Amino acid sequence: MLNIAILGSGKGSNAQAIIEAIAARTLDARIVCVISDVADAFLLERARQHGLPALHVDCAPFKTKLDGAAEQRVIEILRAYQADVIVLAGFMRIIKAGLLGAYAGRIINIHPALLPAFPGLASWQQALDYGVKVAGCTVHFVDAGTDTGPIIVQRAVPVLDGDTPATLHARIQVEEHEAYPAALRLIASGKLRLAGRRVLAS
Ligand code: GAR
Repeated sequence: MLNIAILGSGKGSNAQAIIEAIAARTLDARIVCVISDVADAFLLERARQHGLPALHVDCAPFKTKLDGAAEQRVIEILRAYQADVIVLAGFMRIIKAGLLGAYAGRIINIHPALLPAFPGLASWQQALDYGVKVAGCTVHFVDAGTDTGPIIVQRAVPVLDGDTPATLHARIQVEEHEAYPAALRLIASGKLRLAGRRVLAS
């Protein structure tokens, strides 16, 4: 059984989609822990509602990255819960070398754009500003770059006349909630192999 750890900073709708896919038995996996850098993230509340271990890790003094003592704490938690795959679901910090090295090839992310277009923040706003007619989302392996790494799944949505950042992001999120379980199904079924072996608790 694939052990999933979820890291996120926000409302956790992607986590919810993964929880529901597991409950519906369309994804053969279990969520072993949910971690957030934001103490009052609704993601953690959702996890508790589903009886999942929900942990806050204070990432100060860093504002935009997971580094130092917080990174070590996250690695300890992932090992303790025997995570096989680290699922970034709205985790708004850059992953640094310590975690990348500890879980090489086993960290995946969802990004609200058709990468390599529009990496970084508020990609739906970038898409509107650029005037693209097709937007979407990407699930990809995480490497040392910002929103780079091999692509696993992409799903497209049209950009409609009159779209606002909010309406476009909402349309993208509908596809995200299909894309993340689909990507995890590829991994859980063995069709897509993760690099390295499970890191056992030491
Ligand atoms: C999602 O749209 C995700 O693609 C985005 O944050 C949102 C989290 O939503 N992630 C990024 O922008 C990362 N670069 P959620 O908390 O409801 O899952």
